[in-house]
Amino acid sequence: MQEKKLSLLRFCYNHMMQDMIGPQGVSREEIVIMESRVAKAAKSLEDKRGEMAWRDLPYSQDDVVEDIIKTASDINNNFDHFVLLGIGGSALGPLAVHRAMKPTYYNELSKEDRKGPKMFVEDNIDPDRIKSLLDVLDIKRTVFCVISKSGATAETMAQTMIISQMLKETYYGDIGKHFIMITDQEKGNLNIIAKKENCKTFHIPRGVGGRFSQLSSVGLLPAAVCGIDIKMLLKGAAAMDKQCASEDVWKNPAGMGALLQVQYMKKGRNISVMMPYIDGFRYIADWYAQLWAESLGKRIDNDGYVVFSGQTPVKSLGVTDQHSQLQLYVEGPHDKVITFIRTDKFRNDFTIPNAYPEIDDISFLGGHTLSELINVEQESTEFALYKAGRPSQTIYLPEISEYTLGQLLYFFELETAFVGELLNINAFDQPGVEESKNAAYAVLGKAGFEEKRKELSEKEKLNKLLQF
Ligand code: PA5
Repeated sequence: MQEKKLSLLRFCYNHMMQDMIGPQGVSREEIVIMESRVAKAAKSLEDKRGEMAWRDLPYSQDDVVEDIIKTASDINNNFDHFVLLGIGGSALGPLAVHRAMKPTYYNELSKEDRKGPKMFVEDNIDPDRIKSLLDVLDIKRTVFCVISKSGATAETMAQTMIISQMLKETYYGDIGKHFIMITDQEKGNLNIIAKKENCKTFHIPRGVGGRFSQLSSVGLLPAAVCGIDIKMLLKGAAAMDKQCASEDVWKNPAGMGALLQVQYMKKGRNISVMMPYIDGFRYIADWYAQLWAESLGKRIDNDGYVVFSGQTPVKSLGVTDQHSQLQLYVEGPHDKVITFIRTDKFRNDFTIPNAYPEIDDISFLGGHTLSELINVEQESTEFALYKAGRPSQTIYLPEISEYTLGQLLYFFELETAFVGELLNINAFDQPGVEESKNAAYAVLGKAGFEEKRKELSEKEKLNKLLQF
């Protein structure tokens, strides 16, 4: 039997170029000047592949994938609710993939139609939200998947401690089968807890940071539990890796994407708007926002110079935000680059009936499909931006599938790494986030944070409490 031809996504950057949008655009000459820097970045990323284990996740997990598929099937047979406890890189990827691949109202479907447990991604600690979650769970039919690379994040650990106590009160101690832990390979508290409670554990390989972990067990287990084909997700990522293997920027989509964004940063376009025209991809924009913000927002470069680098990501949704944000994008400050994501083929479609032929103002819609309408709206937005000389680029998914989604995720991860190289910054640390985490530990009395506590009390002395 002939294997189905698998489709590759297309990255179209015409509307980023001067030829198309005029003086605000990037010229061919600018790209030519940067060609050797992109080649150097590609080589450097290839040389560092060993320390960047996230690059090899599409290839390195055969045994883990089988274990994940088996665990997912056990969960499916034994539980009705799957609750992910995690935050940041430990939550945004799983949420994005779930919402991209599953129906919008997945949790409202019957168990037969869902083909998986109800899914909850709990990435906040607002007590009202936790109470609201507990109100809808049957704890006896719930598995809690705790995801924390460090095993130290206060929010996730607090949630874990609350749930663990609650389960113990329900089961008089034996709670192992209600917990799954996903954490660092060797270190961290979750390994200790997993051992104590006898829980199934998956490990995040060294060299896979939180926001680059979606293609590890962090993202794969929650996806597999809901019947998402994780092998195809990884296959898609591998296809994108191959597509971006060249040192020649004209043959490397991630390298070209990165170069263009860097050029625009130099021109003062410090905002990157991610605007999918696929409703289920709104959380892909959220995931991208973290990837772009935490990776590129850096005070110093690799040589110690103060650079204050970065580009603020803004999540936007077509068509919804056409009716709230677009006015600003078209006529506001020249500080944005817009990225559209669209698909040639939605999983469903509706033909708009000519229900009121006598009303000229709306009868023109009759006979068109909703997929046609949403894509025409995207092209019209692109046109409005073009007319105003504003840059935009479009990623076309031939269809919405695990294969195209895997490509998309890997594309953004690699593009981010390329920008890191071009800006000469460390795209893989997050000292700003650590500062805030450490301050919280100090205030709450964690041992080893006494110095931080002193620093905080010095700041308090300056606080004049100016308020109404
Ligand atoms: O990308 C990152 O490294 C962060 O966003 C982390 O994912 C986030 O802070 C949660 O950390 P952890 O997974 O260690 O609990």
